[in-house]
Amino acid sequence: MRIVQISDIHLYGDKQQNLLGVKTFESFVAVVNLLKADKNKPDMIILTGDMAQDHSEQAYRNMVDVLKEFTVPIYFVAGNHDNPDIIERLFPMNNISDKKNIVFDHWNIILLNSQIPGRVEGCLNVSQLNYMQACLQAYPHHHAIVMFHHQPIPVGSTWLDQYILTNANEFWRLVKNFPQLRTIFFGHVHQVHEGQKQGVNYYSAPATCIQFMRKSHDFALENLNPGYRWIELSPEGELKTGISRVANYVGTFQADAKGYE
Ligand SMILES: [Fe+2]
Repeated sequence: MRIVQISDIHLYGDKQQNLLGVKTFESFVAVVNLLKADKNKPDMIILTGDMAQDHSEQAYRNMVDVLKEFTVPIYFVAGNHDNPDIIERLFPMNNISDKKNIVFDHWNIILLNSQIPGRVEGCLNVSQLNYMQACLQAYPHHHAIVMFHHQPIPVGSTWLDQYILTNANEFWRLVKNFPQLRTIFFGHVHQVHEGQKQGVNYYSAPATCIQFMRKSHDFALENLNPGYRWIELSPEGELKTGISRVANYVGTFQADAKGYE
């Protein structure tokens, strides 16, 4: 079973619009084309938030138009930039499902919403934590994966770690009760960050548009090409994961940018 994680697409209603120099639609299409060219075909795609940048319905429709070329199911979680009302109204649509618990071949994938509407930082509220707990309790012998938008650990970048999952301690406390949960994937940080906490491996994905400079105190962009994360799961519980990036940065990102809205 192969999963592809696509994160932080930041589309606008206007396909020509750029984010700090990068036309986010063009950059997303480049990442999708890279995925289509990969001989290893995904069995599902999971979008880990920030699908739209400008809160417009058209931005989501632009994304749907690109993703409808895939025949596999696509799942998503919301990011801080997403519009919960539009998401609720639009999805499910075509191959994009609004299911948040995906169970197959001894694996249990749980998608959580860490968005606090109107805020950049995140939180897994009581209902999200209860949902996670219920999904894990329902399949105690399945290997579990949890995915959401915000980073549940600091990534070592002062400006970005202000916008962390604010109740990460509560989350990690709950994780301890479920030894079958050994892997967490997230987005939000527009960079690859990997590590381990409490014996649980965690991984982020690059954005499909601008990449944030790793370990930077202040906002800064890094000259790394956009891409996606792939995840291979075996029925025995083995997990392999890695990153694929496009050959070129699409557009010219503003290397001196100090932030964005
Ligand atoms: Fe983002």
